[in-house]
Amino acid sequence: MTKLTKKSATSPSNIAFIKFWGKKDSKLNIPFNNSISMNLDSCLTTTTVHFMNNLKEDEIVIDCKRVDGEARERVVKILDIVRSWAKIKTKAKVSSINNFPADVGVASSASAFSALALAASSSAGLKLSKQKLSILARLGSGSASRSVIDGFSEWKKGTSNNNSYAVQIAKPSFWDLRDIVTLVSSEKKEKSSTEGHSIATSSPYFEKRQKDLVVRTKKLKKALLEKDFNTFGNLLEKEAIDLHVMAMTSVEPIFYLNSTTFAVMKALRDLRVKEIKGYYTMDAGPNIHIICRQKDADTINRVIKRVAGVKSTIINRPGLGSRLTNNHLF
Ligand code: DP6
Repeated sequence: MTKLTKKSATSPSNIAFIKFWGKKDSKLNIPFNNSISMNLDSCLTTTTVHFMNNLKEDEIVIDCKRVDGEARERVVKILDIVRSWAKIKTKAKVSSINNFPADVGVASSASAFSALALAASSSAGLKLSKQKLSILARLGSGSASRSVIDGFSEWKKGTSNNNSYAVQIAKPSFWDLRDIVTLVSSEKKEKSSTEGHSIATSSPYFEKRQKDLVVRTKKLKKALLEKDFNTFGNLLEKEAIDLHVMAMTSVEPIFYLNSTTFAVMKALRDLRVKEIKGYYTMDAGPNIHIICRQKDADTINRVIKRVAGVKSTIINRPGLGSRLTNNHLF
């Protein structure tokens, strides 16, 4: 008989250098293109899962609130997959906390579903390989596939459920980069990334982007592995702009960026003239991720915090992926 125990996992958010935008299969979260990211060591979700015989239904609590509706369904989908793999019918209690605000462009779904994948599979007595864990996390949220892996990773798009998962490109210690997450808004975004994905192919630039990505992805990976920071930064910014052009030109235009986003982008360009180099990238939200080297992080952080509209910053190093912890939430 399967031994069901309480298990907890901690998992990071990640920042995509090459973005996932558009799904070939929206049920399985199979992307059109490979994507590349770095885990953020200070933006974490911790999740505890316990499959318990006395429960009549799954109990899901996020940031101390019981969740219903779509958020609950997404969690139950993962619990159901784990139940089918472990051949059990037992319901689970799930509790999860983030140490950063959700829905503002820091990918909370990435840390949430990668933590859930590890905690739930372990609680059901399964010992999944990194590959299987990445697949399970992907089924919850595409970008979560990358958070499972330590350091820098590439999500190989694959062609089916079994071959679409992330692999490591480099360990966290490989390159001492910083991501200064610059929060310019704490409002919930108008359109989720899931909604954005669903209309991505309607942009007239979609096909062009897919073509461009073949070369851009290769170049960015090379620049990363050679630690060629300026080439890397330029590609990073091109890719970020591309994503937002796609969003703005979808059948229903989505405007994720706000005026403070643009003010921070300008401040970074001004700093670069003085040889203080930070490059921007933004996911599906107005907040900016400033990628820089350790030596420039404090100066950039000081300057950026003075830009009108900037609320706060979180300085991240390249982080580990999902791991078990004894820090149980119940
Ligand atoms: C812009 O992984 O959040 O952050 O699979 O629908 O949960 P779902 O989408 P999600 O999309 C992430 C979009 C992005 C780019 C990226 O992280 O690659």
